[in-house]
Amino acid sequence: MGIFRTKSVEDAIASTDEPGQRLKKTLGAWDLTVFGVGVIIGTGIFVLTGEAAGTRAGPAVSLSFVVSGIVCALAALCYAEFASTVPVAGSAYTFSYASLGEVVAWIIGWDLVLELALGAATVAVGWSGYAADLLDQTLGLDVPGWLYSDSPGPTQPNLIAAAVILALTAVLCVGSKTSARFNAVVVCVKLAVVAVVIVAGLFFVKTSNWSPFVPPTGSAGASAAPVAPSLWADLGVPLGTFGIGGVFTASALVFFAFIGFDIVATAAEETKNPQRDVPRGIFGSLAICTVLYVLVSLVITGMVRYDRISVEAPLANAFRDVGADLVATLISVGTVAGLLTVMMILMLGQNRVLFAMARDRLIPAWFSQVSPRRGVPVRTTVVTGVVVAVVAALTPISDLAEMVNIGTLFAFVLVSIGVIVLRRTRPDLPRAFRMPGVPVLPVVSAVAAVVLMGFLPGISWVRLGIWMVLGLLVYAAYGYRHSRLARA
Ligand code: ALA
Repeated sequence: MGIFRTKSVEDAIASTDEPGQRLKKTLGAWDLTVFGVGVIIGTGIFVLTGEAAGTRAGPAVSLSFVVSGIVCALAALCYAEFASTVPVAGSAYTFSYASLGEVVAWIIGWDLVLELALGAATVAVGWSGYAADLLDQTLGLDVPGWLYSDSPGPTQPNLIAAAVILALTAVLCVGSKTSARFNAVVVCVKLAVVAVVIVAGLFFVKTSNWSPFVPPTGSAGASAAPVAPSLWADLGVPLGTFGIGGVFTASALVFFAFIGFDIVATAAEETKNPQRDVPRGIFGSLAICTVLYVLVSLVITGMVRYDRISVEAPLANAFRDVGADLVATLISVGTVAGLLTVMMILMLGQNRVLFAMARDRLIPAWFSQVSPRRGVPVRTTVVTGVVVAVVAALTPISDLAEMVNIGTLFAFVLVSIGVIVLRRTRPDLPRAFRMPGVPVLPVVSAVAAVVLMGFLPGISWVRLGIWMVLGLLVYAAYGYRHSRLARA
């Protein structure tokens, strides 16, 4: 059937070699790890840790990070196998075009909008919390309500979040792409902040704050706002906030902190020896971040009791609470700087996926136009930027993060299945990295992702469903007929 037509792996690889479309192969395993850490460490650890500990898991949020880390490690094996077989820009979208067929590729491409564009919006909202905090603490500027709100809506938009996205969009348009060196500097700043939190924080840890380590189910948390029940809870599984269920509910939220390791796979085309280095970059960055997250969350929940933790700027405020104002300010400065690359790389990733989809004509060619003067797909960049800015201005952070997480986990499911399918359909392809335990491990990976998705609120499932139906309508109306493959 037409909708399951695949773009062969050979085709995908050949299209990267067309004159004028060749990307420079300059990156090694180390560069990829730095790139990965640059996208991964962001709002998840700097902001969502507060909400996850304060309203869902208490000190056991460190276990939540372990749970999410395991789900990601399983998916990482699948991404690594794919990236080492199909080293082509476009990540999950390209992988599935080669294995599962056009309609699935379309679904993933459409779904990646949730991960990348909404992800950038989420980080912008997290960033605005730290920026407002910094202005307040250093300059004594009480940011007015019309400029910043942590529970925004049409009457009270979060204009700081929108502004940072628009500013970064302008930077992306100018074509000054985040050079590896700039990213490396920011990564150093971020790692320094994390190191300061862990080392300096240790001196302020009160072990009494860790008990109970897993607060009993239904404990009162740090925020009066109720947590929306998860899908499992809706289905009658007695797993709510706090308790063991809370560990998983929190893990579905802090999953956001890991997003980005899959974006390392998008750089495959620019890697000197992708077969070897992409898996190394993926696992390296994932391992580093998991260890750091567990340590940071232990320290923060040891410094402040979970029911008093700040949900807007938890790391900085933990230090302010113990009187270490200077450290708090340093953390805020580092966070405000560090999150810039996260937003930039997420938006860059979004632009590349849209670009790849337009190149395949699943969306109008209009989007694949590269500005001849700047060498940047300016139209895609501007459209993405404006949409992300509007969403960031109007939506509260946990709603956003939950949508990003469900969208990304859904991509994990499809990529995991894709590994099994490609092994069957193309056993002949050289695979520099072979995931062990196929087909069992990819199945475990897919199931783990679905289980974690179930710990997100039922409403995010409904939203995901609506988004996907909308996507399929667009495909039926446009991509199905205009696709390059259809015309070939
Ligand atoms: N993992 C990235 C973050 O936490 C997206 O901000």
